[in-house]
Amino acid sequence: MPDRITTSKLEAMKAAGEKFVMVTAYDATFARLVSDAGAECILVGDSLGMVLQGHDTTVPVSLDAMVYHTESVARARPTSMIVSDLPFMTYSSPEVALTASMELMQKGAQMVKLEGGTWLSETIHQLVQRGIPVCAHLGLTPQSVNVFGGYRVMGRTPKEAKSILADAVEIQDAGASILLLECVPEKLAADISSKLDIPVIGIGAGAGTDAQVLVLHDLLGLTEKPARFVENFMTGADSIQDALAAFVKAVKDGSYPQEQHTYQ
Ligand code: KIV
Repeated sequence: MPDRITTSKLEAMKAAGEKFVMVTAYDATFARLVSDAGAECILVGDSLGMVLQGHDTTVPVSLDAMVYHTESVARARPTSMIVSDLPFMTYSSPEVALTASMELMQKGAQMVKLEGGTWLSETIHQLVQRGIPVCAHLGLTPQSVNVFGGYRVMGRTPKEAKSILADAVEIQDAGASILLLECVPEKLAADISSKLDIPVIGIGAGAGTDAQVLVLHDLLGLTEKPARFVENFMTGADSIQDALAAFVKAVKDGSYPQEQHTYQ
């Protein structure tokens, strides 16, 4: 059995210019398939609020749900590193974040993900100090959809771009192990990826990041109105396993994402 993926392995891949892959999974069967396909990371994403629970946003997702699905994924004993989302309002202060993260880590997460930049510096610092690795999510942060007034590309104005870059540097300085950038212009994402030492995973962020993530249901062509950056990897595939393998291969050989998946 191959060794479990660690943050040092992901850092080494970034240093060597090797792309890596993250896919969401929410249960044991898909965790096994994603891991067997060679994805380095599984994200137990709060996107489960939409794709499993039928909500319009990730806001209603509870910590109990995230714990349940993290535990289900962990039971598959994947080689992929398990990153679990801290849901809405479970990191509103460092203390709240510590308690919520403890639950996810004790049920099998190897890292927690939270949405936001500078305001989370102290929280990230405290989590890392206590042994909890952190992935920070910037750009379009879906838990703030009600503040943004909808889902949109972030970082198109010079002011927004400057603020996302400043947030990225600050979360790295605070101790985050990974940055995830969602729906930002390709040039900004490439710039941030080259400036940071930590790996940067992109979704709708162009080809210049160190890794790519997609929501499982999107890449399997199950989403009613997919975003511009989604490719249906079931097209031409004989099975779900083939589609997952095709996504992993496309990220690694640079054939995904293409221009048509990218924002300028
Ligand atoms: O919850 C999720 O699946 C995510 C991805 C969109 C990156 O955060």
